[in-house]
Amino acid sequence: MEKQQGSRESFATKFGVIAATAGSAVGLGNIWRFPYLTGENGGAAFLVVYLAFVVAIGIPVMLSEFVIGRSARQNPYGAFRKLAPGKPWYLVGLMGVAAAFMILAFYTTVAGWTLEYIYQAITGGLTGKSGPQLSDMYTQFRDGSWRPVIWFFLFMGMTSGIIVFGVKKGIEKSTVILMPVLFIILVILGIRSLTLPGAMEGIRFLFRPDFSKIDSSAILAALGQVFFSMSIGMGTLITYASYFPKKDNLLGTSFSVALTDTFVALLAGIAIFPAVFSFHIEPGFGPGLVFVTLPGIFQQMPGGSFFALLFFVLLALAALTSTISVLEVIVAFFTEELKMSRKAATWTAAGTVSILGLMSTLAWNPLMKGITLFGKNVFEILDFTSANILLPAGGFFIVLFVAWFFGREKASAELSNDGALKAGYIPFYMFLIRFIAPVALAIIFLNGIGLLRL
Ligand code: TRP
Repeated sequence: MEKQQGSRESFATKFGVIAATAGSAVGLGNIWRFPYLTGENGGAAFLVVYLAFVVAIGIPVMLSEFVIGRSARQNPYGAFRKLAPGKPWYLVGLMGVAAAFMILAFYTTVAGWTLEYIYQAITGGLTGKSGPQLSDMYTQFRDGSWRPVIWFFLFMGMTSGIIVFGVKKGIEKSTVILMPVLFIILVILGIRSLTLPGAMEGIRFLFRPDFSKIDSSAILAALGQVFFSMSIGMGTLITYASYFPKKDNLLGTSFSVALTDTFVALLAGIAIFPAVFSFHIEPGFGPGLVFVTLPGIFQQMPGGSFFALLFFVLLALAALTSTISVLEVIVAFFTEELKMSRKAATWTAAGTVSILGLMSTLAWNPLMKGITLFGKNVFEILDFTSANILLPAGGFFIVLFVAWFFGREKASAELSNDGALKAGYIPFYMFLIRFIAPVALAIIFLNGIGLLRL
């Protein structure tokens, strides 16, 4: 086995690069958050805004992370240190590592819940329950038992169990299997949902443009969703790109990942809304959609228990290919900066994240319920600060770094693989990261911290 540089690994195949990176992007954000945001914000009109942001901001930020990661071949902190020695840009990398701790803590909480629901689906715990019973079941599970903690540790253990095997044998090997499985499950669920009586009403709800719902808050929601869904702004993609082979076409990879991410979000909407409408459930969505409303719907459809199981397996797989990408950020940081072995780094990272994760998982428990800030419990604080503050801020500095510090020449060399690829889009890309993306990001950021109210 030839190693590229020192002990640093890289992905072995093109499909591995895409499966791993799309695996990071596709997650709870697509299957739970995207459908209800689209539903609440005008359906197709929201979709138009979302797609515009994917192209104008999402892909440029993603490409900028790729450029930084692959040219530095380091964790986010090390990458900025290497590309801008003696300059404070490394703080952006540190912020990314901090965000990784926070996102992993609350994300693994929800990922753990999916395991409870897989367990319930298998043991028949969802069968025959009415809407209110399912709602009680959800709150009792979340607020009053130790089960979420057990599932949290199990999910963290699964994530660590993959990461400890490294880039090729851990991340690549698992995602090239899990992503196709995920895709097949999603298609089965989409077909099941579309063939329910009255399904078209859900499709209409999801795709009928209603531009009157597009106000500034819907626009900001779309921008935030682009960040969360595409895994950008935190250095996850800097880390993954540091494992891309030097001959990988970065623009092509960013298109494949953005397309997969968007397509999965749409498929999830197609799987969920027709079912919701077919069973005459009020589209009053929110956090309960996946854990309360959907199990209620599954109860009423033929073969429902099987589809419920499939759905929660889908959620768990989608979450797993995302949690590994976030844990890898911390592990890369520990191995490279603190010179730990991968094994020690993995368990140290998992252990330290678990402290925060335990607080997040118990956020509704009487033990922790009293700990709030601005009316938000620990889980909600982690969610809010990472998604609404740290990611947009990270994205802002990442594009500024490439646009104004790293510069066009070096960025062009990286994007064109030192001239091997034609990259005629570079002037357009530079224009987007110099002006369009930073201005849009400044707006979402100022709004996120409450300095600007649109
Ligand atoms: N994109 C994932 C989702 O939609 C979550 C995720 C993984 C993420 N890595 C990230 C979000 C880095 C922000 C930053 O579920």
